[in-house]
Parts: sequence; structure tokens; C-alpha cells
Amino acid sequence: METIDCIKSRASVRSFRPDDIQDTAVDEMIDAAMQAPCAGNIQEWKFVVVRNNANKKGLAKAAFEQKMISDAPVVIVVCADMKEIGNAYGERGENVFSIQDAATAAENLMLAAWDKGIGSCWIGSFNEKAVKDVLVLPSHVRPMTIIPLGYPVTKPKKPRRKHPGDVVHRDFY
Ligand SMILES: Cc1cc2nc3c(=O)[nH]c(=O)nc-3n(C[C@H](O)[C@H](O)[C@H](O)COP(=O)(O)O)c2cc1C
Repeated sequence: METIDCIKSRASVRSFRPDDIQDTAVDEMIDAAMQAPCAGNIQEWKFVVVRNNANKKGLAKAAFEQKMISDAPVVIVVCADMKEIGNAYGERGENVFSIQDAATAAENLMLAAWDKGIGSCWIGSFNEKAVKDVLVLPSHVRPMTIIPLGYPVTKPKKPRRKHPGDVVHRDFY
């Protein structure tokens, strides 16, 4: 798929077919995530690939019963190692870069998935402590987004975007 077509046609998918996703496809999505830009090339991102049903259920519960997490054949949790980025960039590394780096990686991952016909949804609403407990994350590793992945039941409808005139400023705000 052309890059711009992939970007423009991607939309959140919240209903998945039960069909499995091959490990090779998961590896390719993570490789794409790892090509994203990141602060100082520190690459403090960590990816937890979840296939285990009990863990998926635990993540769905931690995300206030967002059922698409337990329905998805594969869930990838994008995390940040706060020690790695903090050691490199101090407070700004911990407070800003960790989030931005996880976001660039997650977006690449979702676009690579979509390029393969695999749908996904960015889940940001969750209890961090509960996610850490389910995945047994070390205390310095922070979960940033939960991404359920699967083949869509139906073609997702893209929600309308604002008009560029409402969000673009030229030269000065
Ligand atoms: C930071 C962030 C948090 C989000 N959290 C959730 C969430 O918890 N549950 C959910 O269903 N969608 C979540 N979304 C997905 C958005 O609702 C969705 O991307 C937005 O409505 C635009 O739709 P689209 O992805 O289909 O273009 C989140 C997206 C982002 C970027």
C-alpha cells in the first residue's frame, strides 16, 4: 500500500475476527515500530506481545473492561524504560521523550499492521498499576499504550477530521 493511502485509510478497529496473526507478521510490525524516530536514538521502548488469554483478560480489566483487548488474537503493550531515558535526558526524558518515543513507535506499528490488513486500536485509558501487575513489569518500565490487533470484522469507518483551517496557523499562532 502507498504510504499516504495507508495513513489515510487507517481507522480504529474494535471488533476482530478470531483468525490468528502469524508470528512473522508480529515481528514485522515490531520491526516497523523500531524504525520510528526517537530522542537521541536511545530506543527505550519495550514491547510486550501478549497471546495468553488470561493476560489479555487481565489487560481488558485494567482498561476498564474494554472487551476488544480480550477479543483480539494478539495484544502489544508499548512501554518505556524510564531509567534508560532518564539517564540520558533527565526530567525532560522521563516526562516528555518517553511518551513521544512510545507514540512514534506505536503509530508505526499500527500503520505497519494496517498495511497487512490487520486492524488495531490505541488504548490509552487504563489503570497503569493494574497493567504493570498483569505483565509483571519492573517498576521503572511504564506501559504507554495497549494495542489490540486482529483482522477486522468489517471495514472501519474513519471518523471525520477537523478542517485544516481550524488547526493550522502560519508563521504565528
Ligand atoms: C492517546 C489515545 C488514547 C486513546 N484511548 C482509547 C481508548 O482507551 N479506547 C478506545 O476505544 N480508543 C482509544 N483511542 C482511539 C481514539 O478514540 C481514535 O484514534 C480516535 O477516535 C480517532 O479515530 P481513528 O483512530 O479511527 O482515526 C485512543 C487514541 C489515542 C491517540
